[in-house]
Formats: sequence, C-alpha cells, structure tokens
Amino acid sequence: MAPDPAGRKPEPVREPPAGENPLRLGMRRERIAEPCVMIIFGASGDLTRRKLMPALASLHARRLLPPGFTVLGVGRTAWSDERFRQIMQEAVAEFADRELAAGAQWDAFAAGLMYQCTDLGSADAYGGLARRLTDLDQIRGTDGNHVFYLAMPPSLYPPIIGGLGEAGLDSGDRCWTRVIIEKPFGRDLATAQTLNRDVNRVFHESQVYRIDHYLGKETVQNLLVFRFANAFLEPTWNRQFIDHVQISVAEDIGIGDRGGYYEEAGVLRDMFQNHLLQLLCLVAMEAPVAFEADAVRDEKVKVLRAVRSLDAGAHRVHAVRGQYAAGQVLGRPAGAYRHEDGVQRKSVTPTYAALKLHVDNWRWQGVPFYLRSGKRLARKTSEIAVVYRQVPHLLFGGEARADLVPNVISLRIQPDEGIALRFEVKRPGMSLRMRPVDMDFSYGSSFGLLEMPNAYERLLLDCMLGDSTLFTRRDEVEAAWRVLQPVLEAWDHAPEEGLEFYESGTWGPVAAHDLLRADGRRWRRI
Ligand code: BG6
Repeated sequence: MAPDPAGRKPEPVREPPAGENPLRLGMRRERIAEPCVMIIFGASGDLTRRKLMPALASLHARRLLPPGFTVLGVGRTAWSDERFRQIMQEAVAEFADRELAAGAQWDAFAAGLMYQCTDLGSADAYGGLARRLTDLDQIRGTDGNHVFYLAMPPSLYPPIIGGLGEAGLDSGDRCWTRVIIEKPFGRDLATAQTLNRDVNRVFHESQVYRIDHYLGKETVQNLLVFRFANAFLEPTWNRQFIDHVQISVAEDIGIGDRGGYYEEAGVLRDMFQNHLLQLLCLVAMEAPVAFEADAVRDEKVKVLRAVRSLDAGAHRVHAVRGQYAAGQVLGRPAGAYRHEDGVQRKSVTPTYAALKLHVDNWRWQGVPFYLRSGKRLARKTSEIAVVYRQVPHLLFGGEARADLVPNVISLRIQPDEGIALRFEVKRPGMSLRMRPVDMDFSYGSSFGLLEMPNAYERLLLDCMLGDSTLFTRRDEVEAAWRVLQPVLEAWDHAPEEGLEFYESGTWGPVAAHDLLRADGRRWRRI
C-alpha cells in the first residue's frame, strides 16, 4: 500500500497572474488535480463513447484537466493509438459538441489519448499494462498517479481488481491510485457484499469511487445547498409540516439495445438501488457536520438504515411493478418490452416500479415517501415533490375551501431544472376565491444556462482531486441493497404476481395510482 492510498494531498490551485482580479479575467479559482493517467477498461464500449470521452474533452476545453493528463483505453479490439483517437473524436462530435472535437483544442486533448489492446485473460495482461503505464508516466510526466475506470460488465470487476493487485498496480510510492466502479454494484445484498470484499482486499476504501451519475447532476447537488444554505426551510422540513414526499424519475425511452443487461437487472436494480434511493437520502438526511465525504455519507447511511423493512408481506401493499406494452410515446408508435432485442417473449422483468417507504426516525415518522420510476412513460422528467400538510384551521369557508391545495416544494431535476414553491393566493375580485400559484426558480433563466453541465464531468474531476463526497461508500451501497432485498426476493419468488402491463406513453400501471389513492393522495401531474 502507498503511504497515503487515498492520495488526499493538498491540491494545487490555479492562480490568476499576480495583481489580476480573477473575476475580471472570468476565471474562477478552480482546483486542478495532479497529473495522472486514467485507465479505462471497456474503452471501446458505449459508456466511454457516450459519457466518459465527451466529459473529458469538455473538461479539457474548460482547462480543468491537469497538465500531462492521459487516457489509456484498454480493450480487446485491435486498435492503434491513432485509431482510438479517431473513434473518440467521432464519439465526442456525436455525443457532445462538434467544436470540442475539432481544431487545435482537439489535437491537444487527443495527444493524451493512448490505447492498449489487451486480452485481460492472458497471462501477461496486467504485466503489460504495468509496463505501458511506467512508460507513459515518464513520457507524460504523470508521476505514477492512476485512476482505473471499470466500464465493463460487472462480472469482470473481480478478475480485473485481482489482476491489478497482483501486478502491483493498486498503489505506488509517492503517488496515488484510485478506482472508479460503475453500477450495477452487485445484483443483491449478498453479491454486493462479496464484491465489496473483493475490492477491499486490493484497494483501501479511500481509493474506491463507486459512481452514481445522479450525484453529479447539478440539480441533485443543489438539493444540499437548497436545504442547508437556507434558513427558512429547516423549521418545516419534518413530520410536523410535511404530509408526504414524491420522488419520480420518469423516462420516455425504452431499454434500447440493452436487452441483455436489462433482463437481468429490471427497474429496481437499474434505478432504485442507486439513483432513487440516493435522492431519498438527500431529501431525508440530517445536516452533516461538514461538507466532507464521510460526514455526508454517514448521514445518508443513517437514512437508509432507518427505512422500514418491506418484508413480512409489506411489499404486497407497498410495492407495485409493471412492464411496458405497446403504445405511443410523444406521438410515435412504441413496441412492447417483450419485443425488444435481447428480451424473452414471456419476460416478466419489471420496467416500472413504485414503492411506498417510511423513514423511521424522529424527523420523518409517519411521513410516506412515494418513489416511482419507469421506462416508456409519457415523458422524460425527474422531480422531487415535498407536499405540505393543510393548514390546521382554515378561516375561509364556502367556495374558498374547495379551492385549497397544499403547498408543494418541487425540485425539478431534469429537464427545465429548477425549484418551484406552490402556494395559495386570492384571486382578484369581489368574492373570496383562492388559486394556487408557483414561485419558480429556473436555472435557465437565472443563470442563462441552456444546458446543465454533464454529471460525469464533475464526478471524474472530483475523483482526480481525491474528493469522494459524491461517490457511494461501501456501507451505503449495502444499506441500499438491504432496503430493496425483501422486494427483490419476493418478486423473484413470484415473478408474475401483480405484474401489470401498462401502455407505452402513459404514466404507468393503474396499481401505482391505487397505491396513493388508498392513502387519499395522488401522484403529481408533471
Ligand atoms: C442509468 C440507467 O443509470 O440511468 C438507465 O442504467 C437510465 O437505464 C439512466 O436510462 C437515466 O439517466 P438520466 O441521467 O438520463 O436520467
């Protein structure tokens, strides 16, 4: 092990020239990571082309990458460095911005893109990798600092991690080594625990960055700022004032060409274990003592541990599942899940789920958290809605009473990112009638942003800087699996029980609406 495996050294700060005002120069005091190589396993895969390379090219354009930054793509495809650069250039042009993939800017970035064709099963695979890294560290001045990115099918994580350990690539002297692991992190509690053990046999926990791209989204990070940098919110953010919380992550797309993966995963593993439970944590957690990795993650783990178990039959009442049938999405015909490539014709894999959860602690006792997510719904939209209780006594009778709707704080995660507060006002006129209106903050209009920064940019940069606040810790991942385990088991045991087919382009199965109706509530129309 390296003396400081986490590599948490003070980071150099890029300074404006002496005497210059950084704001006048349009320069923020950004932290710059130390020179390093990012080794991407799965370099010819979709994730590298769609997300990682565009994010890195954009960081380069914004001058946020360290000097000498190098990518070493690892894959079985027989590419040269030059061919790898071409493919990545096409990917950046397609999935990010043509400008990022052109001119001197691209040339400077591409000079740091290297490729190693490797059969990871071969005897000398990791020895060869180690030799290439030694060369690159010398040529590029990257000082032995390495980030390994596992963008491969999860079954390959253990052999890769073992191989890195055996080749001595898990650490080095006076340098740092980190490993980024993509989801799915296991397929249930037991497999996640085994994977954690395998990973931690080689890497110290402080070197491990389990990525959940939702945490890199600007609006998700803003949840913490909104909650903990505003005094007016905290006094009401609890069971005394809040009636319930709705967390919705709706997608209009189907599963695309990921049939094989999705058949194994289903919506709970694909979306709930990570993204939705992370959102729940950020809404429900207590204020951490500091905005530091362990302090934040400690609080999230406490929320997950407080979630009431859905075992002993509770899943029958509190968990709903569905699968998309044919229909129309945004005016276009859309086929059924069972007819997607790589999907069995009698598949019972759920593509939609809704859960009712309770967080058993002082702040949230009695406040249900309704979570829903599905594919091929009416439109792509994610939001968190915090619905307040009605006022304890309403002064206004008659017609006014009929108009009353509860206050809602809705946090729009995507698209049209922003926050709205819904409250009642008096309609102009002689009679006393009310109407709910929205006080609306939108990132677009307040910051002139047409597009939000890519979540991967933030997360890749944080990893290079040694900041794991927005990554999930070992106990957190296991606690999230523990929440879902009873439902996964029950659904695996009786795969067809309660599975409802919903028409593509609708808002999901009827049972999901009944879940709230039974409590005298309903899903928000978003
Ligand atoms: C991924 C899931 O983690 O998140 C996909 O595997 C899903 O199935 C995607 O489509 C949604 O991410 P976003 O950022 O588009 O909301």
